[in-house]
Amino acid sequence: MGKRMNLEALVPAFAKGGDFLVSERAHFRPVRPDAWAHAQMKAFAYNFLRLMTDPTPRKLIIAIDGPAGAGKSTIASRLARKLGYVNLESGAMYRALALKAIKSDLSFDDEAALFKLAHDSHIELVPSIGGNHVLLDGCDVSVRIRERDVTEAASRVSVHPRVREWMVARQRELGVNGGVVMEGRDIGTKVFPDADLKIFLDADPVVREQRRMEQQKIKGEVAANLAADLRERDRRDRTRAASPLMAAEDAVVIDSTKMSEDEVLAQVEELAVSRLKK
Ligand code: C5P
Repeated sequence: MGKRMNLEALVPAFAKGGDFLVSERAHFRPVRPDAWAHAQMKAFAYNFLRLMTDPTPRKLIIAIDGPAGAGKSTIASRLARKLGYVNLESGAMYRALALKAIKSDLSFDDEAALFKLAHDSHIELVPSIGGNHVLLDGCDVSVRIRERDVTEAASRVSVHPRVREWMVARQRELGVNGGVVMEGRDIGTKVFPDADLKIFLDADPVVREQRRMEQQKIKGEVAANLAADLRERDRRDRTRAASPLMAAEDAVVIDSTKMSEDEVLAQVEELAVSRLKK
């Protein structure tokens, strides 16, 4: 920057502690060296030194995997909020594709057709405080994709290797710059095998089923059906040939069976903070 800058022009730059080029300092020439100006100059010097010695902390990629009902979504979203990161629910992308397959009347077993469908789809995750909004070809399907038929279909379309490859590529694009807590089944093993922190959150199956029932406030036959669905989805996730649900070798496994949500969050947050210091 060759042009000379006066103090008034500089104030906004250092007041917001924003990007300030070192070269600009050489051109710094206060035009009114009164008391106010001295105070501002001190603030400038402080901010300048802080920016030079305290670079923005690097932004981690945090992977949280585990079976349904282990509490991943809540922990991922609370952790993301605490760190100022975005929380991305990879399962919502499988759900969106499953919904499109239902609408297109496609067989959940037809891998080639599902891959083409994925390729021709535009699936967006828009993080918000209450969870991810999911846009399928521009339409908000956030509520619809949580329904039972889509849940079942998502579990079935996600077994296909080509569908997974497509999803993994999109998910990498979303998280590659860090500052992300991504949750799913294969984030630590496939999507981000080099993630800064990998958590595998598990819990006793009966406890997971109970948590889901409480979450959805259901009892009786509906609850029994939900438990059966959950078990079947788990079985499918763990036994499929492509990226089965499992903890990465370097994941920290947390069994939340006897832990409160706050206790799990505290443990995960502590791990994240320790990774930030590395
Ligand atoms: O996490 P959520 O229950 O929304 O995921 C829906 C389905 O998508 C799961 O039952 C699972 O089969 C599949 N899934 C997956 N890999 C992921 C996330 C979800 O296979 N990373």
